[in-house]
Amino acid sequence: MLAFSGCMEDRNGGSIDPPDDKGIPAVPRGFPPLPYPSDNPPTADKINLGRRLFFDPRLSRDGSVSCATCHKPEGSFAVTGLSFNFGIDGHATGRNAPTLANVAYNSSFFFDGKAPTLEAQALAPIISPLEMDMDTARLPSRLGAIGAYRESFPKAWGDGSITMDRITGSIASFERSMLSGGSPFDRFLAGDSGAISAEAKRGRELFFGGKAACFRCHDGFNFTDRDFHNTGLDTFAYDPGRRLVTGLETDDGRFKTPSLRNLTLTPPYMHDGRFNTLKEVLIHYNEGAVGKPNRDPLLGPLGLDEGEMDDLIRFLESLTDSSFAANPDFKDPWIP
Ligand code: HEC
Ligand code: HEC
Repeated sequence: MLAFSGCMEDRNGGSIDPPDDKGIPAVPRGFPPLPYPSDNPPTADKINLGRRLFFDPRLSRDGSVSCATCHKPEGSFAVTGLSFNFGIDGHATGRNAPTLANVAYNSSFFFDGKAPTLEAQALAPIISPLEMDMDTARLPSRLGAIGAYRESFPKAWGDGSITMDRITGSIASFERSMLSGGSPFDRFLAGDSGAISAEAKRGRELFFGGKAACFRCHDGFNFTDRDFHNTGLDTFAYDPGRRLVTGLETDDGRFKTPSLRNLTLTPPYMHDGRFNTLKEVLIHYNEGAVGKPNRDPLLGPLGLDEGEMDDLIRFLESLTDSSFAANPDFKDPWIP
């Protein structure tokens, strides 16, 4: 069976590319082809195995934490309500977890971009002493003792050998299936002019031009330029962001532009979750981070009035795809 059964219609506003026979998920209308590494093409069996692994707390040292502990489908695979996430032994992570919707299209991973591929990224939380703290020498044999994996590794990989590369390769394949393009705004773009409100339409004008011009960083089908910017949050960056990777002073306080899809499911906002509401985010941008060092030159006071800020918020709200969070393909497979 193909990994994407069920609600393709909802998610894609009725018009989709059919999945091909390798089980590669259909991309939503207006999205480019799904990117994946040539040595790890997604298949339905790999995606299903990856889903098991993603939801399995036995990937952590004491069996208490899975990827889904922090990345929950109902929160668009981000954590909602918490600035930081809690891993093994109650340790707090240093950052807020971003959404994984459309994560396949990112060109680097983590807010500072330190992981080059989803495969490389998946290893980081497994071995992190703050998150899952698992010994990679022990994990394959632990999983090999579980019947469901003795069945699903051969299906996905051709033989039953369990390796860290196959574990992370399966998880990455599942993550590539997390496609979200069924928001009211997507339906509006597909020709349904009544899909978004008059306020959201005015917000759209502000977003893509005019006074706010948010699209200069949040552009394209996934509302991100995939680049790094300093949005002037702090005078002294407590978290150096991109500078941690490049060592460059000019990268101090720069973070990867996040997608703006499914925002209503993913508060709080920014890499440290400092803003609880979209209004707080808008007030920050409207003030323009004046006087903050290293602030991106694209920022500055916007001069939006209350009504315009509200219109922009209505537009941002129209980017939430409720069929994504409810997609049965993302349910915890361990719960019967
Ligand atoms: C304890 C909470 C926690 C757990 C467990 C966890 N994550 Fe995360 N995840 C985070 C946080 C926080 C970030 C943001 C960190 C950063 O940017 O430095 C993140 C970032 C990511 C990203 C980067 C997204 C992007 O676009 O940059 C991916 C992908 C991801 N996690 C996948 C996983 C997978 C796969 C697992 C399980 C193997 C996992 N996470 C386990 C909290 C967690
Ligand atoms: C100079 C580039 C740039 C511009 C212009 C810009 N943004 Fe951002 N935006 C970013 C970056 C980078 C982040 C992540 C910052 C962080 O996490 O510290 C971000 C974060 C956000 C977030 C939080 C997302 C989340 O998941 O936490 C929202 C909402 C947002 N921007 C909306 C807007 C709106 C609305 C505008 C226009 C008024 C705008 N942005 C203009 C670069 C930009």
